[in-house]
Amino acid sequence: MKLTLKVWRQKDAKSPGKFANYEAADISEHMSFLEMLDVVNEGLIHKGEDPIAFDHDCREGICGTCGMVINGNPHGPRARTTACQLHMRMFHDGDVITIEPWRATAFPVVKDLIVDRSAFDRIIAAGGFISAPIGGAPDGNAIPIAKENADLAMDAAACIGCGACVAACPNASAMLFVGAKVSQLALLPQGQPERQSRVLNMVARMDAEGFGTCTNHGECEASCPKGIRMEFIARMNADYLRAKLTAGRRKGGIAEGGAG
Ligand code: SF4
Ligand code: FES
Repeated sequence: MKLTLKVWRQKDAKSPGKFANYEAADISEHMSFLEMLDVVNEGLIHKGEDPIAFDHDCREGICGTCGMVINGNPHGPRARTTACQLHMRMFHDGDVITIEPWRATAFPVVKDLIVDRSAFDRIIAAGGFISAPIGGAPDGNAIPIAKENADLAMDAAACIGCGACVAACPNASAMLFVGAKVSQLALLPQGQPERQSRVLNMVARMDAEGFGTCTNHGECEASCPKGIRMEFIARMNADYLRAKLTAGRRKGGIAEGGAG
């Protein structure tokens, strides 16, 4: 295939960016989207030009590092597929493909297609952990957990922290990400000691980072490569409300438990 790429080039967060056109020739339908960019970059390096900067690590759809808006869709046109798992067979010879970084105030551009997603790390540091001693794997297996809760917790834990939900949302809301991270612990017994302080602190950090709020557009769920459902936003909101209403009853930061 021979393709035309319209790629966002931006030196750093302070410099203005603009689209630049590149030709991608001899592209196999079996290449991944990132392999196609590798080919284009080899050509740019060969010509002494600056290669297109993009994030990647595992290239297996599990680390959440890759992320770019392809033809207006975070991670591209294929549902439940990260950019690294997207294959060129999804495109046709002669296509023009537009490639941009995530666009959100809380994700400033580092260079070209790379954005700074450390805001997600700070949200996790605000409460996405447990302090209860849980022992080894045999101890974990000895704690009975309702199958429905275990399944839901696993569904929430599928979030890879890629940020596509933020890029897709017209409000640049991070509530699908935070909802998943709050819920994966709130659904399990081990997550109960900090359940209420966790949701309050993570939501406060999310707001402080400059993410917008949820107005139920649903673009986040539609763009999420791991199928995280908006149900987890509802679960987080319910936990948040309960934590707010009972805040006066918690002394010295001791939170109340209760799975469900
Ligand atoms: S909720 Fe989905 S889109 Fe958002 S960070 Fe997690 S995996 Fe990525
Ligand atoms: S590079 Fe790891 S999910 Fe794409």
